[in-house]
This record gives sequence, structure tokens and C-alpha cells, in this order.
Amino acid sequence: MGYTSVAIDGPAGAGKSTLARRAAEKLGFLYVDTGAIYRTVALKALRAGVEPGDREQVLPLLAGLDIRMEYGGDGEQKMYLDGEDVTQAIREHRVSGAASRISAIPQVRDFLLEFQRRQAREHNVIMDGRDIGTVVLPQADVKVFLTAAPELRAKRRLLELEQRGQSSEYDAILRDILQRDEQDRTRAISPLRQAEDAVCLDTSHLDLEQSLEALLSIIKEKIDL
Ligand code: DC
Repeated sequence: MGYTSVAIDGPAGAGKSTLARRAAEKLGFLYVDTGAIYRTVALKALRAGVEPGDREQVLPLLAGLDIRMEYGGDGEQKMYLDGEDVTQAIREHRVSGAASRISAIPQVRDFLLEFQRRQAREHNVIMDGRDIGTVVLPQADVKVFLTAAPELRAKRRLLELEQRGQSSEYDAILRDILQRDEQDRTRAISPLRQAEDAVCLDTSHLDLEQSLEALLSIIKEKIDL
């Protein structure tokens, strides 16, 4: 019997990872955060002193890339780079921009494609990213495009950072989000866009619980659980 896959794409800060993770928990599916994979490659480049947007500098790193993904008992996806747990390190601010730049390099995307597809061949998955419904899993059973107004995404991110005790500024976060949106949407290969057969879920006016409910009902409408 084949496995079921749910693809969730959308811009930065739309709440994809929180919602996808919660939905996966409810359904007993594996949650695959593909942004974390790009972030790990970006961290490799930063540590090697390489500019993540520079193809010529990045390509030699791919051959020796040692990336591993593991799941903790609570379903947390842990990322390992060269044997080191980098789950926290990849969340640093500088890594976000670097991941967006490195992900525009076609060879990086090709390199990670099989890594991502393998997860869906071996598990029931909810996979989130930018091109899951369009490129990675075009045959996904359910496709959702999750979005929200940039100002609201920035507000939520600010709140999240404050709750973690990290100070930040709304204007800087909004600028960052708009810049990443632009970068992810306009790149030549696998740009962020809604798949034709995806359901759009705009969470601008929904809180977390309402968004989760809406997401689960879209999923349950498409697959027998
Ligand atoms: O989801 P995230 O913010 O952790 O992703 C970080 C960057 O990685 C994002 O700006 C673009 C890139 N990315 C991508 O190009 N394709 C994916 N499937 C996931 C992330």
C-alpha cells in the first residue's frame, strides 16, 4: 500500500511549521520541515566562509555534504550537520536569509530533491516548504497553500521572538519577510507559487486553533482517515 502525503506551501512566517506539525501529530503522520534542510545547507556555507548566493563557491560544498535528519520521541525533527546537532543553530536570523539565497541555486535544489522524496516514499507525511505541491510531490494527496498578510506574519513572528525572550523590531521583521517573499517568488527555479490543484488557506483573520481546524478539515475532505 502506498503512503499518503500532504503538501503545505506558502511564504515565510505564514505559520506552516506550527500548523503542519500540529496536524501531523493529530493524524499520526511524519512532519517534514524542508526549510530546515535548506537551512542546514546554508549553515554549512556560512561556516565554510562561503557566500550562500554564489554558485561557484557553493557547488564544491555539495559533494562532501553530511546532512542527517532524525526524529525525537516528541516528533521533533532534528537536523545534523557533519554529525553535530544543529537544530537550534539553523534558527539563527542570519541563516534565514542565507537559506533563501542558497535555495535559488538549481544544483542545491536538485541535490535535496531525492532526500525529500524519499521521506514520502517511506512514511505518511505532511511536508512543508515552498515547492512541495509543485515540484517535490506533484502527486501529493492533499495540497494546501498557506498564507497570511505580510503585516500579520511579521506581527506573529515578533510575538514568537518576544516569547522566546529575544528582542526584535517589527519594521525589521517585516522588511525581512518582504525580502524573503520576493526572493523566494522570483527565483528562476521552483519559485514559491500556489499549485493549480492546491487549496488556499489564508489565516490572516484566524487564530492558531481556527487555522488548525481549517487545515484539518481540508485534509479530511480529501483523504479517508
Ligand atoms: O521555511 P523556512 O523559512 O525555514 O525556509 C528557509 C528558506 O529555504 C526559504 O526562505 C526558502 C527556502 N526553501 C525553499 O526554497 N524550498 C523549500 N521547500 C523550503 C524552503
